[in-house]
Amino acid sequence: MTFACRSLTEEDADAWLALLREGTRAFPLGFLMSAAEAAEMTREIARERMQSGAFRGVFDGDRLVGFCGYRRQGLPRLAHRAMIGPFFVTGALQGSGAAATLMQAVIAEACAAGVAQLDLTVDTENARAIAFYEREGFTCFGRRPDAVRIDGQSRDDLLYRLPL
Ligand SMILES: CC(C)(COP(=O)(O)OP(=O)(O)OC[C@H]1O[C@@H](n2cnc3c(N)ncnc32)[C@H](O)[C@@H]1OP(=O)(O)O)[C@@H](O)C(=O)NCCC(=O)NCCS
Repeated sequence: MTFACRSLTEEDADAWLALLREGTRAFPLGFLMSAAEAAEMTREIARERMQSGAFRGVFDGDRLVGFCGYRRQGLPRLAHRAMIGPFFVTGALQGSGAAATLMQAVIAEACAAGVAQLDLTVDTENARAIAFYEREGFTCFGRRPDAVRIDGQSRDDLLYRLPL
């Protein structure tokens, strides 16, 4: 299969919100936002998120099938770094190459912009995402205790980086 990637705009807000709702329901460890919060998000808020320019999407034809948050750090002393996440591909297309296509597009964009390092975090028990990030070249450099609390339960996350 071949996929195409581009920045998401407010025109993509409805499709992005549907994917966010699918992802938060099916993969609660893969998101900081809960399924309940995603269900409550309005189309207006989704449009605002898209207007921020902080999301890249992967498409199968015209259909948005995955997305990735991509945020460059603002302060000059941090501007060599960019943060990735959330990262999601619709369940039916996991394993299809869509996620790799999106990651490669984000890496290429970051390289072209002079970014020197991509950062991300992932739950310690999100084995599939960990395998994906490591295959794409990210390396783990630490573990953050009590990073996230899901329904009051403390969880650690892993810190990953990709020098470009
Ligand atoms: C993370 C995500 C974007 C990766 O996309 P994907 O299409 O599933 O990724 P791929 O299939 O290309 O790669 C996954 C790798 O994990 C491996 N894998 C699959 N299930 C696994 C498991 N339970 N444990 C360990 N590895 C696993 C696959 O074999 C593959 O490795 P390989 O290419 O060396 O064989 C996707 O799984 C997803 O959207 N997950 C839900 C949301 C999420 O957790 N996002 C990350 C938040 S940090």
